[in-house]
Amino acid sequence: MSTPLVFHPSANIAALRESATIAVSQRAKALKAQGREVIDLGAGEPDFDTPAPIRQAAQAAIDAGATRYTATEGILPLREAIAAAANAAYQGPDRVTAADIVVSTGSKQSLYNACVVLFGPGDDVLVPTPSWTSYYEMVGLARANAIEVHGDPARGFKVDPERLARAATPRTTGVMLNSPSNPTGSVYAPDELRAILDLAAARGWWVISDEIYVRIAYDAPAPSALDVATHRDHLVVVNGVAKAYAMTGWRIGWTISPTPVAKAMNALQSHTTSNAAAVSQHAALAALTIGEPVEAAVRAMVAEFKRRRDAALPILRDAGLRVLDPAGAFYFYFEAPGAGTVPDAGGAFCAALLDEAGVAIVPGSAFRTPDWVRVSYAADQAQVVEACHRIARVARAMRA
Ligand SMILES: Cc1ncc(COP(=O)(O)O)c(C=O)c1O
Repeated sequence: MSTPLVFHPSANIAALRESATIAVSQRAKALKAQGREVIDLGAGEPDFDTPAPIRQAAQAAIDAGATRYTATEGILPLREAIAAAANAAYQGPDRVTAADIVVSTGSKQSLYNACVVLFGPGDDVLVPTPSWTSYYEMVGLARANAIEVHGDPARGFKVDPERLARAATPRTTGVMLNSPSNPTGSVYAPDELRAILDLAAARGWWVISDEIYVRIAYDAPAPSALDVATHRDHLVVVNGVAKAYAMTGWRIGWTISPTPVAKAMNALQSHTTSNAAAVSQHAALAALTIGEPVEAAVRAMVAEFKRRRDAALPILRDAGLRVLDPAGAFYFYFEAPGAGTVPDAGGAFCAALLDEAGVAIVPGSAFRTPDWVRVSYAADQAQVVEACHRIARVARAMRA
């Protein structure tokens, strides 16, 4: 007879928290299994197909033999294309070269690589909050300490140098930036970004700038840190193809960093995943280099996200909900009814919404702001509009 397994997780993951989105998605699945109709606005994933020219280029690449290992850091033409795009934004003297680029299996791996090589035990890393859930965990996996720096909701939760300086400690070595932001949809203006980079430079902090949503901005272009930086010796820019080109499943992301940092990340990656999938790298190369047909597809997708945003936002606001201005990415972030009066108002609202109205959204506790909730509008417009009517109905009923 076998004895039951007693598993004590290693110290590496002892503090790892499971995603707070899991409870809602499990409940949504259970309801669907019972035959209930559920509108799922939980996922942060474009609902479009990868543009056809990219898919065709990938098929051609397979037939041409892109089926083997590549260099760990990625194929040279892709790294050159990334460097060329970076140099179009960055005006400093230290031009970006292919040696500064490491291509990884999604920007998630790029972020993880950067955290592990830049931060370690004893380091404090400033994380503007709310932030994407994985930053806190990645900093923790690097055995550094994530310091939550709460932004001002009146400013879309954006942080400024004063707030960062107040939260900093003598052990602070870095700051995570994300604009446009998941979950808030806020976009930092060029002068706001520059002010943070200036503070980081003065303090000698590393800046990791996650720009995965940079192409998805509605009211004005979202600046990259590379647009405003005057030097980049402490800057790691992270980007990828997932969101802008509707290529989530291809798993391609990259870092743009000083060469020694790129070398360290490359060494790390050589012992973990090696190169990102060869065919996916060719697909990403096509996305970045084909030009107009792909650019037209990106513009059309962003225009469609904007239409959904403009159709759905008034429904939430008319219900008296405090919704942040969604200037970029594809999320509404709003304060849950009952905020400030119950401990996890966002979680309670998400649970009620799912049970009473069949709509799945993500509680703000996933982003360390439990009074808030996130709605993804990367879904069919009719569904987004219907879901927002249901959200409004449940919110009104909870307040009554
Ligand atoms: C802020 C942010 N960064 C990074 C990622 C990861 O993207 P990728 O698919 O490139 O790994 C996501 C995905 O949801 C995200 O929201």
